[in-house]
Formats: sequence, structure tokens, C-alpha cells
Amino acid sequence: MITASIREAATRLGDAPAYLYDLPALDAHAEAVRRALPGVELYYAVKANPDPELLRVLDRHVDGFEVSSAGEHAHVAALLPGRPLALGGPGKTDAELRLPHHRIHVESPNELRRLLATGLEADVLLRISPDLPVEGAALTMSGPFGMDEAGVEECLPLFTDRVRLRGLHAHLASGLDAAELLRLAGRLLDTHHTEVNLGGGMAVSYTSPMERFDWAAYGRGLAGLRRDGRRVRIEPGRALTAYCGFYATRVVDVKRVRGETYAIVLGGTHHLRTPVTKGHDQPFAVLPTGGGPGVAAEPVTFVGQLCTPKDVFARNIVTSVRVGDTVVFAMAGAYAWNISHHDFLMHPHPGFHYLRS
Ligand SMILES: Cc1ncc(COP(=O)(O)O)c(C=O)c1O
Repeated sequence: MITASIREAATRLGDAPAYLYDLPALDAHAEAVRRALPGVELYYAVKANPDPELLRVLDRHVDGFEVSSAGEHAHVAALLPGRPLALGGPGKTDAELRLPHHRIHVESPNELRRLLATGLEADVLLRISPDLPVEGAALTMSGPFGMDEAGVEECLPLFTDRVRLRGLHAHLASGLDAAELLRLAGRLLDTHHTEVNLGGGMAVSYTSPMERFDWAAYGRGLAGLRRDGRRVRIEPGRALTAYCGFYATRVVDVKRVRGETYAIVLGGTHHLRTPVTKGHDQPFAVLPTGGGPGVAAEPVTFVGQLCTPKDVFARNIVTSVRVGDTVVFAMAGAYAWNISHHDFLMHPHPGFHYLRS
């Protein structure tokens, strides 16, 4: 999970805490995902991690990018000019509806009317909210996202030769396995629409990091469902970038308080919010660089420098740890730095380092 090159880079870090990104690992992973999906258009959901270095690597393997705001649109357009962009997101502003796109995912009949009112040409996928029960999802994207059958019916007569209906888009949930995603695919591909975007949401297990989404099974399943001339697109985020990111830091204190042992590290969940938002223990390794006071083989809770009891990376994990040790949190490449509340308490921001070979 944490390779020798990441361990070495973390040990040598002069500016902990810092993010370390393993670009060759991302390159190899994205290539394998691409290979598993013949005939399927692969977009990357930029919201998972918009880091320019990661986007440049992914650009070698993907057909385009899914962006969900004017900010993400401008970022990708400046970095990788001319790449196909699928513009999504609820509550688009008029300025966002005017942005150039390869596809725009329309979320409601009123949004479609506002798009028509711009007078610009548009290629639309209607985002639907399928009434499919999902099992084992980490986060179900129901509620305000997309529209139901009545919404779709309301939209259909509004299309013109300038604002064209291209097909359907659905992003059902986060954390789905290949079988669940293929159930969604079966439902959407059983319509007359010739273009379907099946969204992202491929499962990433933070408790069993070696368990990976079965891209080969998904690719085979999609190949079985596709009919000639049908365009099928997916837009994963987390399952592409989660594994290539690491947050490395150092232990500043180890202490026992009322029977509990805590290791306090530099930085905190204002840099890596993922374990708090998802309620998991972030997988980690302790590298013995310290030599200060510590504990051996006992349950330890790893916390950061924030003045809140919620600043917890992992609870009661049996380990040895000493002051000055390096802690490397793995699976920090998606919904990590970019979703964190960076400026709470005004601690310095982390460094960013990229392994290139
Ligand atoms: C519309 C849409 N597409 C794609 C994604 C990416 O999902 P994931 O990172 O789980 O693959 C999201 C995430 O929220 C989304 O809302």
C-alpha cells in the first residue's frame, strides 16, 4: 500500500506535513482502467482532485473531464486547452450555462429553460435521478440531484436544433461495486437514448485498501450491454486518484489521557478531511524516524493540531509510535486536500511533492 519510494520520500521530507503524489503509480493505474474499458468513453471527475500534475497524467488516458463549476471549467481549460468538457453540477449560474462544453448535464426543466434563454448552442444530457435502490453505497446522490420521469417529460418538448438532446446522465451514488453499477447501466441502456453517461461512484475501500474496484468485470459487463452506435461514458473521480496520494507528517507528542493513548501529529484534518467526512480510520504507516518518548504495540489514536475533538485521523489502532516518527497516511489522493478547511486555526499549508519515477 505504501511503497518503498513513498516511505523514502516521507522519511526525507524537510517540510512535513506534506502531500506526496506518486505520478508513475497514477499513470499505470489510469492506463489499466482505460484498458479495461474498450469502447467506453472515460472522463475524469475533476472534483475528486484538481491538482494540475495529476490532471496532466490523467490526460494521457482519459477522453475528457467532468467539471462542476466555472472554477473547475476555467482551471481545466487553461491547463489542458481544447479537451472535451462535460459540465455538470446543481444550481448552475447563468454564467456557467454560457460556458463552452462538449456536453452539459441539465439538472431540471427550469435549468433547461434558462439554457435556452442564453440563445447559445448546447449539447445536453438530462441528468436523471433513477429510482434504483442501492446497496452498500457510501453516499447516495438522491434528493436535489437530477430529475425524475416527470421532469424528463417536461424537458423533452423544449429541445430545438440549437439546444440538442444527446441523451441521459446519471450519477447514482458513491462507493458502488461493479455489479451495482452494471444494474444502473442496464436500466439506462435499456432506453432509446443513443448516448448515456453512467457517472462515477466506483467503490474505494479505506478499510481494505487492497480491495479494488473490479474494472475488468465492469468493462466486460458494459461491453455486453452496449448496442451498436450507442455512446457510453463514465466519469469516475475517487477510484482514479485516491490511491496515488499520501499525506506525510511527523509526531510532535505522544501522551496518555485517562487511559487513552494519543499521537499528535503536525497538521491535521484541515489538510486531510477525508477520515472525518467519511467516518473511517485513514490507513497509515508509522516510520521510525523519531527516537523520542513513545509507546510500543498498544492502541493509539492519531490526532492533528486542531482545537477540536473531531480532528482525528484514526482511532485505537494498535501500533508503536514515538515522538519524531513519520506517519504516512495513504489513500489521500481524492477528496482530501481540496475538500479540507485549510485555514482553520491558520496553521501553515502542507508542502506538495511529486514522485516522477
Ligand atoms: C455528477 C458526478 N459525477 C461524478 C462524480 C465522481 O464520483 P466518484 O468520485 O465517487 O467517482 C461525482 C461525485 O460526487 C458526481 O457528483
